[in-house]
Amino acid sequence: MRKQVDFLIIGSGIAGLSYALKVAEYGTVCIVTKSRAEESSTNYAQGGIAAVMYSPDSYEKHIHDTLVAGAGLCDENIVRITISESTQRIKELIRWGTKFDKNKSGKYDLAKEGGHSEYRVLHSKDHTGAEIEKALLNQVKKHKKIEVLEDHFAVDIITQHHMGVEVNRRSTDIACYGAYVLDPVEGRIDTILSKITLIATGGVGNVYSNTTNPEVSTGDGIAMVYRAKGKTEHMEFVQFHPTALYNPKERPSFLITEALRGFGGILKTIKGREFMQKYDARLSLAPRDIVARAIDTEMKISGDEHVCLDCRHLNKNELITHFPTIYAKCLSIGVDITKEMIPVVPAAHYMCGGIQIDEYGRSSIQNLYATGECACTGLHGANRLASNSLLESVVFSHRAALDSIQKMDRVELNQDIPDWNAEGTVLNEEMILITQTTKELREIMSNYVGIVRSNLRLKRAMDRLEILYRETEDLYEKSILTEKICELRNMINVAYLIIKMATQRKESRGLHYSLDYPDLKK
Ligand code: FAD
Ligand code: SIN
Repeated sequence: MRKQVDFLIIGSGIAGLSYALKVAEYGTVCIVTKSRAEESSTNYAQGGIAAVMYSPDSYEKHIHDTLVAGAGLCDENIVRITISESTQRIKELIRWGTKFDKNKSGKYDLAKEGGHSEYRVLHSKDHTGAEIEKALLNQVKKHKKIEVLEDHFAVDIITQHHMGVEVNRRSTDIACYGAYVLDPVEGRIDTILSKITLIATGGVGNVYSNTTNPEVSTGDGIAMVYRAKGKTEHMEFVQFHPTALYNPKERPSFLITEALRGFGGILKTIKGREFMQKYDARLSLAPRDIVARAIDTEMKISGDEHVCLDCRHLNKNELITHFPTIYAKCLSIGVDITKEMIPVVPAAHYMCGGIQIDEYGRSSIQNLYATGECACTGLHGANRLASNSLLESVVFSHRAALDSIQKMDRVELNQDIPDWNAEGTVLNEEMILITQTTKELREIMSNYVGIVRSNLRLKRAMDRLEILYRETEDLYEKSILTEKICELRNMINVAYLIIKMATQRKESRGLHYSLDYPDLKK
């Protein structure tokens, strides 16, 4: 099937949906999303969205906290843009129907999370993301110019390469003409031509064994842009959330929001001993890289499989009112958080790097934008400040929409694009080839490219990955495409970028810690 639209959006999290609502006033929009529309990291976000709302908070304080967390690698111009536009974008989310909690005096109830010097996190109990996703999807579903294709998997963006023109990493005129999209129900690859394409495919957590990310976060957009010879950066900065619920059989790992530490929860060993005083004066509310490394160290010293978050001293009613999802989840596995400590471990949570974009969300490929977690704006530098991700997504989707609307009239649809060629491929009936490789990939990444790295571990990871890469490319070339083979291929591409960029960084900084360079740069 061939289809043509003005704006093609890949992904239906906060980045894709908020962009769609803006550009739909100017042209036809198609959102392609690989699962149900709401299935996204956005939908699982708990803590909230950081923004400056009232004094004594100020833009300068939020800018300062973001720069400190980013350990010298933030782009200060981008930080200033993001934070100074935060209040406007929050008001827009509220206009679209998002309900953030208020306190008794009618003001927004702001929470505090690690690395923030003020209370500035707007939230909706402990399910903020679901509230935002619901509000945005309601608006999108009402909009006549927006079509949402659920269970459709974007395989590759279309460039001159698909017309037989050679492009390489030095080419400066690569252009995007749309995407090839797998419709698994019909079992075919559709050609969707677009004037403007937005990649909003979210994170990469599933490259690791333990992750808070939903199954859909397999780095597809980053891999597509990399294969199309677009620019990516800062992929070595993978954020591990310090406190995922320790429940070994569960995937993804359930998050225990940092807001619970902001509320007074204290990290302790299994034996009930506090340990954060050994690592940072901000104790349990130090930035995530510090807390995750501290937990990793404590687990290595004790040999324990987890540490604990103690909330037993907190007011029981307030605890349950503020964190109903966490209370119910822990109870479901037999932990009453008002009486027992919560077992927690770090888990892969957020990709700070990604597709390189500028201040209007423009990638290095013409007519191709990227926003949200798959993009690298320069806001987070070497480490993201908690709750700055949802904010970054709305700010840059807004800015990308402004630029796309202007550009749209100057772009022609390219009718010469050939349809997908599936000649000579056969159905791969051995799922074990894919599941086993996926398992191996995750073990390599978790064991060698996790919270603590070294030159030797990275070299070993790259050598092992090379084998998986060759086997998977071979299988991909011969197979009738399925979502699972495409995801595996994408995860291998993303793992390659993480290892390569980690190997190139000859220092420890932010989220990248190497035993070979123990002095942490700030
Ligand atoms: P997502 O919301 O992940 O959406 C990506 C979309 O792309 C999905 O619809 C997916 O199906 C689709 N997609 C992916 N690949 C393809 C493909 N090949 N074809 C078609 N569709 C595709 N950040 C905060 O700021 N505050 C928080 O409190 C917070 N809590 C979090 C809690 C959890 C458990 C997690 C996992 C993350 C949290 N984060 C938080 C991070 C934040 O939620 C994400 O960074 C943000 O939601 C990313 O939004 P996005 O639109 O870029 O991607
Ligand atoms: C959390 O609620 O702890 C997650 C916040 C974030 O990832 O920004």
